[in-house]
Amino acid sequence: MKRTLKAAVLGLTAISLSAVAADSGFFKYEVIDALYTSKAIPSDPNAKIWEKAKGTEITLYPQVSVRLNDKKANSLIPKKEAIKATVKAAYNGKNIAVYIKWKDDTPSLQPTLTTNQFADGVSVEFPNKFGRGITLPYVGMGDENHPVTVYLQKNVAGRDYQKVFISKGFGSLTEIKENGVNIVMKYDSKNKEWYAVFKRPLKTENSNLRAGLVPVAFAVWDGNKYERDGNKSLSRWKFIKLGKYKLDKKYLAYVSWGGPYADWKEKGKDIGNPENGKKLFQQNGCIGCHRAGEFQTAPAGMAPDLSDIGGIANAVYLKESIVNPNDVIIRNLNINRHYMKTNPDRFKAYPNNSMYEWYIKTNGKKQSKMPTFAHLKPQDINDIVAYLKTLVDWKNFK
Ligand code: HEC
Repeated sequence: MKRTLKAAVLGLTAISLSAVAADSGFFKYEVIDALYTSKAIPSDPNAKIWEKAKGTEITLYPQVSVRLNDKKANSLIPKKEAIKATVKAAYNGKNIAVYIKWKDDTPSLQPTLTTNQFADGVSVEFPNKFGRGITLPYVGMGDENHPVTVYLQKNVAGRDYQKVFISKGFGSLTEIKENGVNIVMKYDSKNKEWYAVFKRPLKTENSNLRAGLVPVAFAVWDGNKYERDGNKSLSRWKFIKLGKYKLDKKYLAYVSWGGPYADWKEKGKDIGNPENGKKLFQQNGCIGCHRAGEFQTAPAGMAPDLSDIGGIANAVYLKESIVNPNDVIIRNLNINRHYMKTNPDRFKAYPNNSMYEWYIKTNGKKQSKMPTFAHLKPQDINDIVAYLKTLVDWKNFK
C-alpha cells in the first residue's frame, strides 16, 4: 500500500516535471528576458542598465542566401564557423532596446564605399506582424506574406552608417525613416568584441511590439571575410519576453514546437529520428532540388541550399515549409546567373533559364515550385525536420 502510494506520487512528479521541461528549455535557450524599467533607456551600450539585464547566449550560423560572384569570398565559406553572441533586452512604457555583443578579432572598417574592402556590421529584425495564427517569416529578412523591419549598422569610415528597412525578402528592401530609432555600435579592443544597442519605440507605424513574446533575429557581417549582403551570419528567430504584457499560451505552444534543447544534436532527436529523416529526404526527392550537407548533386541555385537550415530555421518553420510551401515563398536573386554555362548568344550572354526560378505566378499569385509533402505521415515529417535540424554548416560548399 505504502509502496504503490509512493510510486503514484513519483509518477505524478515525473509527469509534471516533463510538462515543465518542454517550456523551461524554450525559455532557457530561445528567450531573451527583457528588463523592465520605469526610467528612460539610454542608447549607450556602456550604460549601467546592461549590467542588470539578463544575457542569453545565442549562435549565429554562416548563411549564404546569395551566391556572390567572388572567388575569394566563396573560398572562405567552407571554413566559416558559427559565432556566439550575448543578447539582452530592456524596455519601459515607450521604448525597447536590444543589446548584442560578439567576438571579432579583426575589426573591419570600410574606408569609403570601395569595392574590395568590407565593413563589419550588425542587424536586428522584427516581424511586422506576429502572434496567434501568424506564421514565422523567412528569417533571412522576411518574405512577401511576412514583411519584417530591419535595423542595420555598419562600420563605415567618416559616417554613422545606419539604416532602417522594410523587407519582404532578400533583395526587396525599402529604406524607411522611423522616428525615435537609435543604434550605437562600439569595439572593445581589449576583449576583441563588438557590442551594439538598437533602440526603437515599442510601437511604430510598421510594428507593435507590445506583446508577451516578440520574435527577433540577429545578423552580423565580418568584413574581414569579405562578407556583405546575403553572405553573413544569422541567428534563427529568438523571442523577447516582455513580462508586462500577456503571454499568449497558444502562440508559445506554436513557436516552441520541436524544441529547444541543450544543443542542436539533442534537438533533432527530440522531434524525431534524424537518421530516418535523412533517408526520407532522399526517398522523397528533396535532393533533386536542394543541396544539403553531403547531398550536393542538385544544380546550385535550383532551390535554397539547406546546408545551414538547422541553425537558422525554427523547427516549426521547417514543418510548415514541408506541409505548406506556398505560405513562405523565398526570393531568389540569382535567376539569371547560370551555373550550367551552356548556349551563350552572340553577345556571350547566357539565356534566361526558368529552372532557377523558385516560384511561378498564376493569376498574379505566387506559387512555390516546391510541391507540398502534406501527404507524408506526421511522424515522417517530424523525422525530416529532425534531420534538417542537424544541418548547420557549409563544408561542402563549392
Ligand atoms: C521541385 C523542387 C523541390 C523539391 C522536390 C523540394 N523542394 Fe523544398 N523548396 C524548393 C524551392 C524552389 C523552395 C523555395 C521556394 C519556397 O520558399 O517555397 C523550397 C523551400 C524549401 C524550404 C525552405 C528553405 C529556407 O531556406 O527557408 C525547406 C525547408 C524545404 N524546401 C525542404 C524540402 C524538403 C524536406 C523536401 C522533400 C520532402 C523538399 N524541400 C522538396 C524546391 C523543392
